[in-house]
Amino acid sequence: MGSLGRRKKIVVFSGAGMSAESGLKTFRDSDGLWENYNVMEVATPEAWEANPEMVLEFYNKRREQVIDAQPNEAHIAIAKLEDKFEVEVITQNIDNLHERAGSSKVAHLHGELLKSRSTAPPYDVFDISGSELNMGDVCPRGFQLRPHVVWFGEAVPMLEVAQEIVATADIFIVVGTSLNVYPAASLVYCATDSAKKYLIDPKDVKVGQIKRLRVIKEKAGKGVSSLVEELMAEDRDIVF
Ligand code: APR
Repeated sequence: MGSLGRRKKIVVFSGAGMSAESGLKTFRDSDGLWENYNVMEVATPEAWEANPEMVLEFYNKRREQVIDAQPNEAHIAIAKLEDKFEVEVITQNIDNLHERAGSSKVAHLHGELLKSRSTAPPYDVFDISGSELNMGDVCPRGFQLRPHVVWFGEAVPMLEVAQEIVATADIFIVVGTSLNVYPAASLVYCATDSAKKYLIDPKDVKVGQIKRLRVIKEKAGKGVSSLVEELMAEDRDIVF
């Protein structure tokens, strides 16, 4: 009689700190992106209307860095969890390092840097070949392409789906996010009381009362890999 059990489900919720050790800047650390750029000039629909070239240049520079970056040991450790668990990654990051490390289920709440989108409905999405997206790059219907990124003030289309995914977690791992930006940050309250939760960040992150939360005050590289080692060593990975 086959076991009626299922593999334990792990949901990972990552932010910019996940990719910091791959050399990609976070947003709110010292010397972060928002220290060097005015978010209102490069990451809002108004910025796109006023100066699309500046917006495209901002993302072209970040795209070049992502293409040159490598997944770090934290990305690789999370991909390894799939050997033993059912894993879904929900990331605020627009880089593709989780995928390049081997994670097979990655949802990008804030879009994807390596994709473009038509500026006219039905807003078709395309892969960007190379590192540049420029004025004059148009979709097959002739409309200008924009970065497939969620700007401040725009809706987060994947939010409801992401909330449902977090609610299915037996184990919920939050890594590398200051939990400053809503609605994404609300995900941290969507796991069930019975789920085991981990928050990995070298700094203190303000978070409300959460049951069964263990804070691991480490960088992702060290914190995630040691947690993954612990989870992989646990004998019970089937839930009956
Ligand atoms: N390992 C783990 N965490 C780290 C590391 C590291 N090596 N270095 C920094 N961090 C932590 C910081 O302590 C901080 O808590 O990563 C977090 C980065 O926070 P933010 O810079 O605010 O990035 P994030 O939370 O992902 O921002 C959310 O804001 O600007 C928008 O759309 C953008 O998706 C982004 C959203």
